[in-house]
Amino acid sequence: MRLFIVGLGVVGKGVLELLDARRAELASHFGVETRLVGVADSKGVALCEDGLAHAEVLGVKRPGAAGVASLPDGRPLASQDDLPEVIAHSGADVLIELGPTQMRSPRPATDRLLAAMGAGLHVIGANKAPLSTAFAALTEAAAVNNVLLRYSATVGAGTPMLTLARAAVMGDTLVGFRAILNGTTNFILSQMRSSGATFDSALAEAQRLGWAEADPSNDVDGWDTAMKTAIIACHAPAIPPGRSISVHDVRTVGIRGVSARDHADAEAQGQVIKLVASFDATTLSARVEPVRVPIGSRLDVPAGGNVLLIDLKHAGELALFGRGAGAHETAAAVLRDLVDIALSAR
Ligand code: HSE
Repeated sequence: MRLFIVGLGVVGKGVLELLDARRAELASHFGVETRLVGVADSKGVALCEDGLAHAEVLGVKRPGAAGVASLPDGRPLASQDDLPEVIAHSGADVLIELGPTQMRSPRPATDRLLAAMGAGLHVIGANKAPLSTAFAALTEAAAVNNVLLRYSATVGAGTPMLTLARAAVMGDTLVGFRAILNGTTNFILSQMRSSGATFDSALAEAQRLGWAEADPSNDVDGWDTAMKTAIIACHAPAIPPGRSISVHDVRTVGIRGVSARDHADAEAQGQVIKLVASFDATTLSARVEPVRVPIGSRLDVPAGGNVLLIDLKHAGELALFGRGAGAHETAAAVLRDLVDIALSAR
C-alpha cells in the first residue's frame, strides 16, 4: 500500500517508528506491505514514487531540523490550501491524516480528507476536528467514492473503544454511555488531588508525556472529550438515521474551575473528581463535565487511563479500560485502521 502522511508531530513520528518495528509482522500476519510515497508537515511536502526512507523523514523532523521541505524530494508549500491537490495527485492508496486538531477551524483537515476520497484514496483520520464536526459528510463521501474511511485513533488511541461501541449497539439497545476520554485532564486532576501539584505543573508533565493536544485548552476546557463523545455517538451509531451529533451539541464544562477545596470536599465523602462524558440514548443529550464519582468505582481510573462504560438494555454494562493517549498508543490505532483497510479492500 502506498501511503501519504500529513502531519509529522508526536503521532506521525510514532506511526513511522511502529511501521518499521512491525514491518515483518504486518507482512506475515496480514499480508500488509507499505511504501511511503508522500509526507507533508506544516511547511512543506515531499513526494517519491519509489518510497521515502523513514529514517530520513524522521531525521528532518528532529528538533531544530528543517522539516520535510529539506528532503531531496521535498519542497516548500506556499500554502496549506495546496495540500488537497497534492494528495489527490500523489499516487497514494491511503491518506493518513494526522494534522493538529483545530476544533474552531476544522475546514483545512476536512478538505484534505474529502479531496483524498474524491481522488479514490482510502483515508485514515486521527484528527478529531473533521470527524466531530462533519461526520455525515465524510461518511457519505466515502460511500459515494467507494473508499474506506477509518478513524479509530480519534477515540481511545490503542484501546479499541469505537469498535466495542459499534459491536455493542449492533446486537442490543443502547441506554447510554459514560466515559473518561482525556488523559491530560485525568492526569491533572489526579496529580492535584494526590500530591497537591499546581494546575500548571501537572499540565506541563502531561505535555512532556506527549498526551496533551497541540493546543492544551482543547484538553482542559473539555473540548477534546466532547469531540470524542460526538464521534462515539455517531460511529456506534447511538442516534437515529438522518440525525447527527457534533461537538457543538455536547454541553461542555472543563476542569479550570475545580479547586483544591473541591478535591478535599469530595475526598471527605469518599469521592474523587473526574471529567466525565455522558450520553443518554433516550434524550440524545450529551454532556462533558467534572463529576464526583465514588473512589474505587469504574470511573475512578488511574492517571493515564481512559474508560468507556456502555449501558445496554439486555447485556447490561460493558467496560473497556486502557491507555488513551501517547505516540505509540495512538500510532497503534492508525496501524489497526491500516490493516483493517487492507483486509476490507481485498
Ligand atoms: N489530548 C488527548 C488526551 C490525547 O489527553 O487524552 C489525544 O486524544
